[in-house]
Amino acid sequence: MQHFRIDGPCRLNGDIEVSGSKNASLPIMAAAILAPGKSILKKVPNLVDISLCGDLLEELGCKVTRGPLNEMIIDASVIDNPVGAYETVSKLRASICILGPLLARCGKVRVSLPGGCAIGFRPIDLHVRGLRALGADISMEYGDVVAEAPNGLVGTEIFLGGSFGSSVLGTANVLMAATLAKGTTVIESAACEPEIVDLANFLNKMGAKISGIGSPCLTIEGVKELHPVGHEVIPDRIEAGTFMAAAAITRGELHINNCNLSHMLAVVDKLRQIGVTVEPVENGCVVSHEGPIRAVNITTQPHPGFPTDLQAQFMALLCLADGNSIIVEKVFPNRFMHVAELSRMSANVTKEGSIVIVSGQGKLVAAPVMASDLRASATLVLAGMVAEGTTIVQRIYHIDRGYEKLEVKLNAVGANIIRERA
Ligand code: EPZ
Repeated sequence: MQHFRIDGPCRLNGDIEVSGSKNASLPIMAAAILAPGKSILKKVPNLVDISLCGDLLEELGCKVTRGPLNEMIIDASVIDNPVGAYETVSKLRASICILGPLLARCGKVRVSLPGGCAIGFRPIDLHVRGLRALGADISMEYGDVVAEAPNGLVGTEIFLGGSFGSSVLGTANVLMAATLAKGTTVIESAACEPEIVDLANFLNKMGAKISGIGSPCLTIEGVKELHPVGHEVIPDRIEAGTFMAAAAITRGELHINNCNLSHMLAVVDKLRQIGVTVEPVENGCVVSHEGPIRAVNITTQPHPGFPTDLQAQFMALLCLADGNSIIVEKVFPNRFMHVAELSRMSANVTKEGSIVIVSGQGKLVAAPVMASDLRASATLVLAGMVAEGTTIVQRIYHIDRGYEKLEVKLNAVGANIIRERA
């Protein structure tokens, strides 16, 4: 198993490139199922999760090939096996987003229930509610979700809000299914994440008729068929936010390229409250910081609120703040696997249910630590870069799921990270 050996402290300085968005690519890859023929996606990052999604599409009957410059060609001419097997789905929770497009294209689908994961229970009741509302018969069989709509789907009004607000992949599933339903579908309390906007734009290019894109109310006029298209996925705002936190925590200056600040208003606002300089430039921004890190409070929420996927990274930053910060996790209340690991690095963090009090004390100390999920792992890399000494971050396969060449990008701007095999 591989680990990162990180020598700190370091100060990051220079140009860093953000890859295409993992969380836009995954539902868009699933959406390619809706149109027989070849869709060509650009700036799809080279990640484990993306490869797993490609494997899944091939199990369905698609042909998935990679071209130069992170291009991906998905030939969905033939879908002869509408089944998402446990072996693949258990490794990639996002596999659930083949449910909607397969139902719309084939009228039947069997997808293994995604297991839980380190950030908590991942129910799919909203996905099921929405697809049932469109007329699907859905049952559970031996750990699989079995969905059928032999006479096709019929548009209707659907309220898709759950106890934690909107659902990103729940919205994706229902949105994709609705594009080929008979009549009009209105999705209330739809997710507004930029990744859903990108998916909706991709679907409209394919011939779908979606309006209200980016709002909590999506209206979809069903069409008879969709056609394959070309599309460039949006930048990964979570990778960009991770780099912003890295510039701040190391008191450095990073020119972050291929980042869309309009996708990250809550993140930029929070950085500025902390005292970090964020200067928009063409195709990105320059993030720099010197002097004290101001303590702030963060509450994670669905977009446009502060993203849960950056909660852990900002916790590491606030460990160095000049006072106490309160972090409230309202999307995944148990998403705190990183708290124990940061404590091993002498962070002064106290967890009370879905709230963590970070008592800034201005110092993180190197230690061997264990990655547990994608974003918590990135947090440990940030902490290791600023801690005095050598930090070993184990189980970095979590990082490879969602960050493209993370150590290569960070070493190019001044980090000292070596990937080693234990
Ligand atoms: C997406 O997951 C992202 N993954 C997650 O990013 C991200 O953390 C999450 O959205 C929230 O922004 C991808 O896009 C591949 P949700 P998703 O459905 O869609 C509850 C990363 O690090 N809920 O929006 O699975 C759920 O338990 C990953 O890149 C229900 O109650 O998340 C949670 O509390 C981690 N019923 C809340 O809603 C449902 O049917 C938000 O979940 C579905 C969800």
